Amino acid sequence: GGNLLYLYQGFWCPQVSIKGMMLFQQHFKAQETDLILASIPKSGTTWLKALTYTIVNRSHHSLEKSPLLTNGPHGVVPFLEFDISSRNQFLEQDKLPEPRIFGTHSPYTALPCSVKDSAAKIVYVCRNPLDMFISYWKFSVNIPKENEKHLSLGDAFDKFCQGLHGYGPFWDHLLGYWKASLERPDKVLFLKYEDIKKNNVPCIKKLANFLGLPFSVEEEEQGLIEEISRLCSFESMKNYEATMTGTGPLGIPASAFLRKGQVGDSLNYLTPSMVSRVENLIQEKLQDSGLSFCRSSAF
Ligand code: A3P
Repeated sequence: GGNLLYLYQGFWCPQVSIKGMMLFQQHFKAQETDLILASIPKSGTTWLKALTYTIVNRSHHSLEKSPLLTNGPHGVVPFLEFDISSRNQFLEQDKLPEPRIFGTHSPYTALPCSVKDSAAKIVYVCRNPLDMFISYWKFSVNIPKENEKHLSLGDAFDKFCQGLHGYGPFWDHLLGYWKASLERPDKVLFLKYEDIKKNNVPCIKKLANFLGLPFSVEEEEQGLIEEISRLCSFESMKNYEATMTGTGPLGIPASAFLRKGQVGDSLNYLTPSMVSRVENLIQEKLQDSGLSFCRSSAF
């Protein structure tokens, strides 16, 4: 069933992706120009895919003709452990145009050596764990299950706090990429959903600079960054044909990946004691790391 998690190299890997994760680790050969977009589910992966794809391809076609609009972010950026499920499919990826862009939920430690040791770049997006949890819970209750009940909010929350959720524990997932970004800032860019939301244009610039594709003065003057921001906004993406009618990873409707798109929505669902439980966990697990979160858009 969909709730089954396997402990794989210290992380709780969902049954649906355990095989893909192992194949990825063993058979994926990174190219020097590869861009790997990493996250825990419900942290803003879909948004990061759209932004990265648009930045990379901005000079290949006008934005209105972007394949992002017709294929959606999941159509243009495959997931390494979901969409590519056999060894042969990994070999076929060689034919993709450069730079290849992939998504993954793999923890940093489980990435293939070729990703870590090559010049391939990694962008990680994370999100306040409270919002990530609610987004995850809302997402999972909307997916029909055979012969199985969905967890109640309280039960799912208890498990989440024990690290028992897809690719959890979240603190280890976050810390793996966080530390890598501190050690190798040219290799790993660490972004927060809340920052992208609040400082959209500066974040898009930062992402483009990191990818080695900075905006020219001319592009900036033309308002291209603002245009990318608009094209990838929640409101725009929600209304793409590809979002309304297409499918995302695992055959899940693409629309399920755009729910509310806000900071602090979890505060509408969690009790104050639940909130402080997660905040204590963050304190305990992330202390001294320099990593912190704001929990609502009011901050
Ligand atoms: P909510 O459930 O809080 O709305 P992922 O892509 O990692 O699965 O994360 C999904 C979450 O990111 C959902 O959060 C979704 O609405 C939000 N999201 C997707 N696209 C977005 C966008 N363009 N801007 C802001 N949030 C977005």
